Amino acid sequence: MVRSIIIDTDPGQDDAVALLLAFASPELNVLGVTTVAGNVPLSLTSKNALKICELARRTDVPVHAGCDRPMDRPLVTAEHVHGKTGLDGSNLPDPSTALAQKHAVDFIIDQVRSNPDKSITLCPLGPLTNIATALTQAPDIAPKIQEIVLMGGGYFEGGNITPVAEFNIYVDPKSADIVLRSGIDITMLPLDATHQAMIRQDWLDHLAAWKTPVGTAVSGMLDFSQRFDVEKYEGKGAPLHDPTVIAYLLDPTLFSGRLINVEIETQSELTLGMTVADWWRVTNRPANVTFIRDINEAAFFDLLTQRLATL
Ligand code: RIB
Ligand code: CA
Repeated sequence: MVRSIIIDTDPGQDDAVALLLAFASPELNVLGVTTVAGNVPLSLTSKNALKICELARRTDVPVHAGCDRPMDRPLVTAEHVHGKTGLDGSNLPDPSTALAQKHAVDFIIDQVRSNPDKSITLCPLGPLTNIATALTQAPDIAPKIQEIVLMGGGYFEGGNITPVAEFNIYVDPKSADIVLRSGIDITMLPLDATHQAMIRQDWLDHLAAWKTPVGTAVSGMLDFSQRFDVEKYEGKGAPLHDPTVIAYLLDPTLFSGRLINVEIETQSELTLGMTVADWWRVTNRPANVTFIRDINEAAFFDLLTQRLATL
């Protein structure tokens, strides 16, 4: 059964690998890619998404640019990880394809309204600004969305942009709060899971040895973006965050987690963007998120390698 998805993204090298994994997987029908400001400003995340569609020879997939800043605070970016372009290390040519005309938010709303109920899964890989804006502008779409499978948050692992907050949530906590209160089925791939998907140098060398455009681009991109985390996590490698969302869609048995309550800190400057996960169910707050805590790392990289090799 082919699953229809919309990938909302802020490429970003790990986003790029997630896009490639989706394009390499016939189980998934990518209706479109929507871009959001996050790792780098919107103009660059949009350009980068076009570059990756061209690399995968999937220019049939429309790329719609979305929100260029969070709902109610200034944009925070992550050039220190992803480089000035957001795809440093890739050396991909400027795209020759153009962005689709329609704004990402309108694309999401129109796709959900015009397709059968519960037939589209949204896959946010960056700040949740586009998703929350769509839900605010068109509350009628919430019950029509099949599921939201997102990369974001962290609890036992803490944060990566502050001691308690993960970047995607931290950039736009208000949007994350709107999405988590939407009543839509949500599966969250937090740092607790992605920190078990650690990039190894021999894996990058294996991809580089393919001497294919995809192998060279992926090894070059991740070689660049991993350096910040290798230093930060004292040589334990670097987590490969966003492809875990796509891998979850392809084989959820590689993951385990719990349906629990997760809420977002939106007020305190100290803990802004924290995902407060009631893992031990000590409150009677409603269970709104399947919070993924474990991943089969070897099987994840086997799946990713197999699929990338087909591009
Ligand atoms: O915290 C990791 C997340 O922030 C990933 O989605 C990465 O691409 C950045 O957007
Ligand atoms: Ca991302």
